[in-house]
Amino acid sequence: MTGQQKISLPLHQCVVASDPKIVTLRAGCDVVIGAREDNDWERRSMQEFDGRTAFVTGGASGIGLAMARAFGRAGMQVMIADVEEQALGAAVNELQGLQIRADGTLCDVSQRDAVAHAARHTIETFGNVHVVCNNAGVGGGGQIGEASLNTWDWVLGVNLMGVVYGLQEFVPHMKAHGEGGHIVNTASMAGMINMPGMGPYNASKFAVVSMSETLVQELAPFGIGVSVLCPGWVRTGISDSERNRPDDLADGSPPLGDAEMTSRRATIRELIAQGLEPDVVGARVLEAVRNNELHIFTHMDMRPAFEERIAAISAAWDRAEDSPALNQGV
Ligand SMILES: NC(=O)c1ccc[n+]([C@@H]2O[C@H](COP(=O)([O-])OP(=O)(O)OC[C@H]3O[C@@H](n4cnc5c(N)ncnc54)[C@H](O)[C@@H]3O)[C@@H](O)[C@H]2O)c1
Repeated sequence: MTGQQKISLPLHQCVVASDPKIVTLRAGCDVVIGAREDNDWERRSMQEFDGRTAFVTGGASGIGLAMARAFGRAGMQVMIADVEEQALGAAVNELQGLQIRADGTLCDVSQRDAVAHAARHTIETFGNVHVVCNNAGVGGGGQIGEASLNTWDWVLGVNLMGVVYGLQEFVPHMKAHGEGGHIVNTASMAGMINMPGMGPYNASKFAVVSMSETLVQELAPFGIGVSVLCPGWVRTGISDSERNRPDDLADGSPPLGDAEMTSRRATIRELIAQGLEPDVVGARVLEAVRNNELHIFTHMDMRPAFEERIAAISAAWDRAEDSPALNQGV
């Protein structure tokens, strides 16, 4: 406990650990401030990749495959998990062709038993897991109040519950092996700003950002880092996510919807086709894990839209400060 100070907070106070090195939340409402000498954050962050193991969901394509390449090239053995059997086999072959020790496991991340099985298979094959990328995701959207409930179930099942199940399996494992590591959750800029017509997707990605910002505080004492990847448009297969929609969650509404939605979908498809190369994102993730960065951004052109949202929220605080209702009391 050298160099630390312990303070007790009233229940209603909220502490944000923007730097896990100096603020550690403890059980109850005690807060410990100061770096623990026996658990120095910098020393425990992921610097050694060689011979360690990465697990990547949605690893058969796009950003997941790019992360698998990046971690594999850094010397890690890689297990990729995906729901598409053929693409999975091709991706494993490609990784092995790059001299990466890689294997694949067929897994629908929206099914808790499937994720549990994939985790067991990974540990049996490669031993302890040090990097977990909860990345599998689908691009289902629609207007809020109009998107079908099947779309909500599908998108939240994959993009949100898939991440929850991955964390349920691997957080206890990583804490128990005590060798440190890093968790990368793939959100999106849709977890930072809200574009209309993408309600279910936006909700799922804001939830992934929230979980990651929570988890980074909870895992800091264990030398496990957390990043949340928030890319803009990346040239992947996400526009064709419908290929992976299960039949029992088929969309009842007409596939193309009204004219405005049709044109918006076409624009998004075009933006993705002209998006960033996935390997650039993979390299950025590796860099961010080495540097132990929480938020990973890749698209500088989206910064103004994010700052606009923050400014609007900040203006709401100003209005509250000047509010007669709050200042006069009842
Ligand atoms: N491409 C972009 O512009 C972009 C931008 C921001 C965030 N993202 C996010 O990046 C992540 C990866 O998507 P991508 O762009 O590489 O798309 P992609 O379609 O190329 O890759 C997604 C992979 O996930 C797999 N998958 C789909 N449903 C699954 C399920 N139920 N279980 C397991 N695997 C499943 C697919 O088979 C595919 O291999 C997603 O979470 C997506 O939301 C993408």
